[in-house]
Amino acid sequence: MGKKFKKIAVLTSGGDAPGMNPAVRAVVRKALAEGVEVVGVVGGYKGLIENTLIPFTPRSVSNIITKGGTFLYSERCLEFKTEEGMAAAIETCRKENIEGIIAIGGDGTFRGATDLARRGIPTIGIPATIDNDITATDYTLGYDTAMNTVLTMVDDLRDTCESHARCNVVEVMGRDCGCIALNTGIATGAIGIAISELEFDEEALLARARALKADGKRGMIVMVSEGIPAIKGADYCEKLTARLNEILDSRFSRLAHVVRGGSPTLRDRVTATEMGVLAVELLLKGESNMVICEIDGKLQPVEINFALILDRMYKNKLKDGDLEMFSAEQVEEMRTICAKRKAEIERLNQIALDVCK
Ligand code: F6P
Repeated sequence: MGKKFKKIAVLTSGGDAPGMNPAVRAVVRKALAEGVEVVGVVGGYKGLIENTLIPFTPRSVSNIITKGGTFLYSERCLEFKTEEGMAAAIETCRKENIEGIIAIGGDGTFRGATDLARRGIPTIGIPATIDNDITATDYTLGYDTAMNTVLTMVDDLRDTCESHARCNVVEVMGRDCGCIALNTGIATGAIGIAISELEFDEEALLARARALKADGKRGMIVMVSEGIPAIKGADYCEKLTARLNEILDSRFSRLAHVVRGGSPTLRDRVTATEMGVLAVELLLKGESNMVICEIDGKLQPVEINFALILDRMYKNKLKDGDLEMFSAEQVEEMRTICAKRKAEIERLNQIALDVCK
């Protein structure tokens, strides 16, 4: 059993995601129930640098479970990466007697959390990003809500496509992760799905559109993840739409930040609540430098360093020396996780090719 905590802080950082508010609510209520004081850091790591804190009672988080965004506000804070920024953040923790921090966000948030842990402030991370791009966890908060938002919007597009015998190319967010595009592509019956993790055969898609039109299909959807234009050029979707337009009347829609808002789904509310409670339990038990992951349906803590390097391995961004601090078994475990994730994406893509016609 570790020391007795008196006061902890919670913050949200990076791009907001539906589920952040339910996670904050769970952290606040669980900590207060354990007799630990909780403060909210306003505006992510910047708020820690500038000492903008708000005290919490159980009532402070009433009704936020239904709200998208983050009521603690969020920023991508470059200053936090500097020595001065970090020193100011540590100073706030010392001055305000903050003995531990629960940081809710994506990989940038966890890099900040690990830096704080290294300097003696215990931290636990909760993964929240619509992209679902943290390799160590099968699920990140906000992902389900974002996909359901895409689903509703593309279902509406399908109506008008069917009326006018049109194709609509839809670009969705996800940074360099195609999870949103792949799953919503399947769920909306897209005739083509382009994600940056897999080779995309544009000629095969055009041939399919031609054949489907000849077969009497009127409405068609093509789903493109934003990782594709990042590789092939910013106007890739417009160009693809122009090529499809030679086959049938075609339009292009980009679903960007609108997909990041909205009331969290049941999945996001429940998982956020479970993660928030577990984060407090782990912190109070004396754990630090951990991110809570969902692996094969179970929540479990994973070392942030492991999670960050695993991410680099999966994204082919490993730097010299990255693997040196890990045992051969850990490196093997990383390779297995990467292979599993890739296989799952290939499996879903094949299903889409087989069924979405
Ligand atoms: O990480 C979430 C995300 O919405 C990505 O899908 C997207 O690439 C990025 O953030 C957009 O960032 P910003 O909100 O800074 O425009």
